[in-house]
Amino acid sequence: MMMSFSLLSGSSSAAARTRLAALIFLPLVLIGGALGLSACQGGEEGSEVSDRVSALFEPLPEEAPVPEDNPMTEARVDLGHKLYFEPKLSRSGTISCNTCHVVGAAGVDHRAVAIGEGAREGRRNSPTVYNAAFLESQFWDGRAATLEEQAKGPIQAHVEMDLTKEEAVSRLRETGYLPLFKKAFPKADTALMFDHIADAIAAFERTLMTPGAPFDRYLEGNEAALSTKQKAGLELFMNSGCAGCHRGPMLGGQGYANFSHAKGDGDVGRAEVTGDEADRYSFRIASLRNVEKTYPYFHDGSAKTLREAVSVMGESQLGRTFNEKEVERLVAFLESLTGEFPSVPYPKLPRRPASSPDADVASGAGP
Ligand code: HEC
Ligand code: HEC
Repeated sequence: MMMSFSLLSGSSSAAARTRLAALIFLPLVLIGGALGLSACQGGEEGSEVSDRVSALFEPLPEEAPVPEDNPMTEARVDLGHKLYFEPKLSRSGTISCNTCHVVGAAGVDHRAVAIGEGAREGRRNSPTVYNAAFLESQFWDGRAATLEEQAKGPIQAHVEMDLTKEEAVSRLRETGYLPLFKKAFPKADTALMFDHIADAIAAFERTLMTPGAPFDRYLEGNEAALSTKQKAGLELFMNSGCAGCHRGPMLGGQGYANFSHAKGDGDVGRAEVTGDEADRYSFRIASLRNVEKTYPYFHDGSAKTLREAVSVMGESQLGRTFNEKEVERLVAFLESLTGEFPSVPYPKLPRRPASSPDADVASGAGP
């Protein structure tokens, strides 16, 4: 690898020698390209995806990792599907998870910041639920480790759904959910309890995956899956330093970085979780999967378009002002991260009168 590189640069002193060398060393150039010395040329020749690209990115897995204590049984996923759409889980009976994370709209609400119970404005933008199962941590500041833990937040949050655990459990009991919980949690002493609401929703969320994006097909060896412009965008994405943060199968979703660009909104981000001054204005490095569809951007929803978000990133994270062409290329590459969305039907929600009071019903978090 080093050898081919030094031979090539040595030959650049005279044009004629370069051309000769290019002929002689063409195979080496191609190998070099494959090894990541010049991934761009490699791409256009129809050769394999360069090692440099595959060292940074991975295709999105088709299936999410499933925790041992929350298996994705059919009954559990089904229940979670209903609960995800269940407006009774909010004080007014009008807001469900799907209000802010619309499964038919890339898992977002397209608002700058979320609006929840009592039309109260939250302070942050609703991130997508698609592929959230692959995130290393949940929320813009990473304050929840798992989907199970995450799902307990919004139901109780004043600005979101605003119920107590006890209210959530008794509402579901009154609505006729008990048999569904018994099916989904057959071994539990108490089937209908708060933690199980979160477990079932999390099991359902693990079905919200979008594999098969053009970039995934490219990573799997289909050169034609990306346009020339998108390949140029990928190059720029790697060379300018975006991939230093946005990498891996999610192009982000792990690790934190300072984003003091949004300082003005008073949101100190990760520092709220760790109490560490050094984390002031740090936020989780956003995943860029389906980013074309999840506008507006940033934790405060301050960038309306992907072009704007890309320019801001260049300035704030890399100290670099991209010209219009460069922004276009980067945006074209980011558009190749849009995967195939599953069709998620609106479920039939149980609306039966409650069965007789049952010992199986408990409130609170349970054991
Ligand atoms: C009122 C709007 C609203 C409702 C209702 C709501 N969410 Fe959210 N959701 C948000 C916002 C805003 C955030 C980001 C909050 C933060 O980072 O502090 C978020 C974050 C998340 C995340 C983390 C994703 C990531 O990228 O970190 C998941 C997963 C999620 N919500 C799922 C749910 C589920 C499941 C429900 C129903 C139980 C729900 N949400 C209800 C607005 C809402
Ligand atoms: C130093 C790490 C770092 C670098 C380098 C970086 N980003 Fe980011 N990126 C982040 C963080 C952190 C966020 C979340 C910001 C926030 O809190 O809103 C983010 C958010 C984004 C978003 C918005 C995602 C969303 O859903 O709101 C886009 C788009 C983006 N980055 C693209 C890029 C591009 C393109 C580059 C290269 C020009 C780049 N980033 C360079 C850390 C980085």
